[in-house]
Amino acid sequence: MARIAYVNGRYLPIGRPAVAIEDRGYQFADGVYEVIKCVFGQPRDLERHLDRLERSLRELRIAMPMSRAALRRVIAETLRRNAIRHAIVYIQVSRGTAPRNHLFPKNAVPSLVVTVRRAPFPKPAEIEDGVDVVTLPDQRWKRCDIKSISLLPNVLAKQQAAEQGAREAWLVDADGRVTEGSSANAYIVDQSGTIITRPLGGEILGGITRQNLFAAAKAAGVPIVERAFTVAEARAAREAFLTSTSSLVLPVTRIDGQSIGNGKPGSITCRLLDAYLQAQGLAAVI
Ligand code: PDD
Repeated sequence: MARIAYVNGRYLPIGRPAVAIEDRGYQFADGVYEVIKCVFGQPRDLERHLDRLERSLRELRIAMPMSRAALRRVIAETLRRNAIRHAIVYIQVSRGTAPRNHLFPKNAVPSLVVTVRRAPFPKPAEIEDGVDVVTLPDQRWKRCDIKSISLLPNVLAKQQAAEQGAREAWLVDADGRVTEGSSANAYIVDQSGTIITRPLGGEILGGITRQNLFAAAKAAGVPIVERAFTVAEARAAREAFLTSTSSLVLPVTRIDGQSIGNGKPGSITCRLLDAYLQAQGLAAVI
């Protein structure tokens, strides 16, 4: 069955050309996106994803393409038409279509595309053994808090990580401190059992899974300190992990080829993963 996309008011087979050549998302990466997980057809954390979408749009002075209620209906209808049990909903909003000119067009109508695909959850082996990450220079801009579709440095970093046999790249600022992954937030657990992760700011995306992880850690009595950590600290950590909507809470067991802790997923990481799976209704799925 062909996947169906919502494109500016129409539901179309995903392969059908439907976006204008002069869409500013296409020509300038002038737009934002969201990725929402659906379990048994039900979106998770939908309101928080929509809050973040609205914030990203506001920061770039792009109007919401429709009311929040209408957008919820479009998401539900796109899910219905695709009938995928555990899915990832992708929402992209661009500033709209206009003759190419860097300046904001007058009266542009924002473009909205919604697609759905099968959720690429981690494989059992990745959860049981943990994954490798490599550290690479963070070459992104200073507004990584905006979920912009301009992802070229992320794409290049992820590709380089894959070519080095790693699942993810952890990006490192000019002072040698980890910001986040190319598509996930980054955490270590120090020898005292405290989680350390970068504070919110222009250097990272405020992950929705990060919010959930904080709630799970609080409930489990695991302390979190929000501060930047160095690559050297990461290599000496007891545990490491990453979080994102589709990677969930994923143990990291090697950084730049060096084992972390005893080389197996850490106990705190596993406890928080279990709590997260439970809270998301994923315990029987993963
Ligand atoms: N990525 N940091 C970056 C740079 C990201 O791209 C993402 C998400 C996250 C985690 O955010 P959340 O927990 O809200 O998914 C952090 C999405 C999934 C993507 O680009 O596919």
